Amino acid sequence: MELLTDILVRRTNHSKLTEVDFTALEFGKHISDHMLVCDYSDGEWHAPHIVPFGNLVASPSMLALHYGQTVFEGMKAFRMEDGGINIFRMEKHYKRFVRSLERMCMPVVPKEIFVEGLSRLVELDEAWIPTQPGTALYLRPFMFASEARFGLKVADEYRFIIFTGPVPALFGHTIKVKVETNYIRAARGGTGFAKCGGNYGGSFFPTLQAKKEGYDAVLWTDAAENKYIEESGSMNIMFVINDTLVTPPISDSILDGVTRDSLLTLARDLAYKTEERPVSVQELEDAFAKGTITEAFGAGTAAVVAPIGTIHINGVDHSIPAYTKTSISTRLKYRMERLRTGKEEDKFGWNHIV
Ligand code: COI
Repeated sequence: MELLTDILVRRTNHSKLTEVDFTALEFGKHISDHMLVCDYSDGEWHAPHIVPFGNLVASPSMLALHYGQTVFEGMKAFRMEDGGINIFRMEKHYKRFVRSLERMCMPVVPKEIFVEGLSRLVELDEAWIPTQPGTALYLRPFMFASEARFGLKVADEYRFIIFTGPVPALFGHTIKVKVETNYIRAARGGTGFAKCGGNYGGSFFPTLQAKKEGYDAVLWTDAAENKYIEESGSMNIMFVINDTLVTPPISDSILDGVTRDSLLTLARDLAYKTEERPVSVQELEDAFAKGTITEAFGAGTAAVVAPIGTIHINGVDHSIPAYTKTSISTRLKYRMERLRTGKEEDKFGWNHIV
């Protein structure tokens, strides 16, 4: 393989930057000018290159379209207070990408390509990094089976791509969620911990039903008994019960969220009590009856911290009191935003300065 310092860059002649209203961003709408592309074939990775963002030419028999070998990551880059650029928790995202690829029988993208590719791309499109509070440049590395062949098999050819786009937080308001006890997202031994496309496609139908009923998202329960809360599909879930930050433990049916880990670390640093343990639906109902649940929020790269105002359980809407400046979730979010924009010390070594 050629040296990565040789990443070939072909710049666009038609930047779309001026078409974007940075004061009214929508999640997932705008894509920055360039993308990184890197192919795998004949058992090896070829030289990555950066080109103008554009459509792909693909065979209708491309294996990813039929058998679902496709994995992605979601990360964020920030403009630092001193003008620098920070890619947040690159290492942890890379490790999770590797775990997802291995579960889906896909070759691992070398770390050098992942790290250098992201750094170069973000540097090139740095004008796309938004600066309004709560916004970020979202980074979407992903990989799919590109081999043109329809026999049921593990593909021999893959394409790794990274594109980016300016985003606000996924939800701009306090959300309503529904505890889902009929459909499931992931079962023990399945792919729930992997960030593979099928996990998301499979969750659309129940989520759409919940949306029709007025909820923003579902809270998945375990596949065996529908008794324990798992996660929310696009976010992990955290509760404050009896003044303790409680979240279900990572398992093979729950995504190992980077924001989840960051918030737990910050909470411990702020001397809050934290517990990673199973949370049953019954425990939530009891906590609502006793008034001991004071906060619930989603935690995810796209969502950041998404405060929950209503949790629907077995036909009943339970309300959570309004969030304030002193809520644990508000404080954790504030701390995280300051840390990743360089307004406070990066004491955990999470910032990768480009
Ligand atoms: C993220 O938080 O980055 C995700 O991947 C969730 C998403 C599919 C919006």
